[in-house]
Amino acid sequence: MIDLVEKLYTNNTLRKHELIQLLRDIEAPTRNHLIKKAHATRMHRYGDLVYMRGLIEFTNYCHQNCQYCGIRSGNPRAERYRLSLDEILDSCRIGSELGFRTFVLQGGEDLYYNDERIVEILERIKEQYPESAITLSIGEKSRESYQKFYNAGADRYLLRHETASRHLYERMHPDMTLDNRIKCLQNLKEIGFQVGTGFLVGLPGQTLEDYVEDLIFLQELKPHMVGIGPFIPHQHTPMSHEQGGSLTDVITLLAIIRLLLPDVLLPATTALGSIDPIGREKGLKAGANVVMPNLSPTTARAKYALYDGKISTGDEAAECRICIEDKIRNAGFTVDMSRGDHIDWRGLS
Ligand code: 5AD
Repeated sequence: MIDLVEKLYTNNTLRKHELIQLLRDIEAPTRNHLIKKAHATRMHRYGDLVYMRGLIEFTNYCHQNCQYCGIRSGNPRAERYRLSLDEILDSCRIGSELGFRTFVLQGGEDLYYNDERIVEILERIKEQYPESAITLSIGEKSRESYQKFYNAGADRYLLRHETASRHLYERMHPDMTLDNRIKCLQNLKEIGFQVGTGFLVGLPGQTLEDYVEDLIFLQELKPHMVGIGPFIPHQHTPMSHEQGGSLTDVITLLAIIRLLLPDVLLPATTALGSIDPIGREKGLKAGANVVMPNLSPTTARAKYALYDGKISTGDEAAECRICIEDKIRNAGFTVDMSRGDHIDWRGLS
């Protein structure tokens, strides 16, 4: 088992059957070794820096109906909201004053925000904060729309593939296809975005073979960012009574991803911090190097409920920058407030 970890560390790849064996047989000693190697790789590529992104959840309207998600269209009990352009700009101002140089605009697939409105938001932010990077995360769009967003100043785009296992994807996403998801990701890359994808861990029925599909997919796509987190049930979804994903599985997969894609920007996600009070610190020690505190107006945060128990105030909130910095420093890392581009992008923007 240790041999497999060494091989992964040295070659940054493993064969499919080796990945399956690693995930199937891994136990604490090998996992600890894997985590050490992931940490060493991250230190070698990015040092002890943790990049900060200010997250603005600007709408929770969504026309998609993902089985696991609290803001799915089929949840009539979700309290819907949209931030106005001024509220979005205000969140950016607050974020900018706190030192953030990346704004992540995330929302459900909300048809109110047509291309024109998104372009207006992007242009206004870029006009006021030209030195900042903008990351968009608003789901599946046509290539033409993505191109318009890029031209209007969006630098990066997050679109998790959610799961690369076709049968599981179809079960989780009525009326959506894995092929279209992948097409969107390819379009985004071709246009020139720094692209983030990622997957859920611990979906009901998800097997380790399914994770291996995810890992192979990541190796093929070579995204600049990968966001993974545990599935956490939401009370008003068809999956409310299912078991959530485990911290250990997420940590193991984070470490493997760091070794498969040594230069990747890898967040310790909010979902990880929501299932364990020190989940994100554990993620940072297993190769993660990004944290995305919440910059949305406080009234919006509770309503952007993708799952139950989502942390969004206290230490999590962007306005408590000192608390976050303390936590990151206590875990042995250094907060970096720069744009935090992927290594391949340095000096290009
Ligand atoms: N548990 C964990 N993560 C979730 N997401 C949506 N619903 C849940 C849930 N119940 C994730 C999806 C999506 C991201 C914004 O939030 O992976 O891409």
